[in-house]
Amino acid sequence: MIKIEAIVREEKMEDVKEALSEIEVNGITVYQVMGCGMQKGYKEVIRGSEILITMLPKIKFEIVVSNEEWAEKTIEAIKKAAYTGNFGDGKIFTYDLASVVRIRTGETGTDAIN
Ligand SMILES: Nc1ncnc2c1ncn2[C@@H]1O[C@H](COP(=O)(O)OP(=O)(O)OP(=O)(O)O)[C@@H](O)[C@H]1O
Ligand SMILES: [Mg+2]
Repeated sequence: MIKIEAIVREEKMEDVKEALSEIEVNGITVYQVMGCGMQKGYKEVIRGSEILITMLPKIKFEIVVSNEEWAEKTIEAIKKAAYTGNFGDGKIFTYDLASVVRIRTGETGTDAIN
């Protein structure tokens, strides 16, 4: 099982949700987060002073899928939906996941995902 974390632009949340729904990835968790990447935010002039805005609001998706094939499909869908080509488009991280339990049924592992 593989866990995918994707950090995307706020305004791309709906597009990413739709793209995941289209490939029938249904279990998702979404967070509102703050973060920065390579550019460490940007400078903005507020009431005459230049202020460095270091943390920008972003959306984080967490998705667990059963295997590599699904992970690739999911990553492709997110990449396509979240892309603008500008700085700050986001990142996708993947992890090997040790276990999953569906509380209602007691199912574990991939049975608990599908
Ligand atoms: N190395 C990292 N570790 C954890 N979170 C990160 C990392 N890099 C980026 N993020 C998260 O992803 C968000 C978007 O990052 P961003 O797309 O700006 O990455 P980047 O490396 O600066 O790429 P780009 O040059 O395209 O802007 C950040 O606000 C932060 O929440
Ligand atoms: Mg950046």
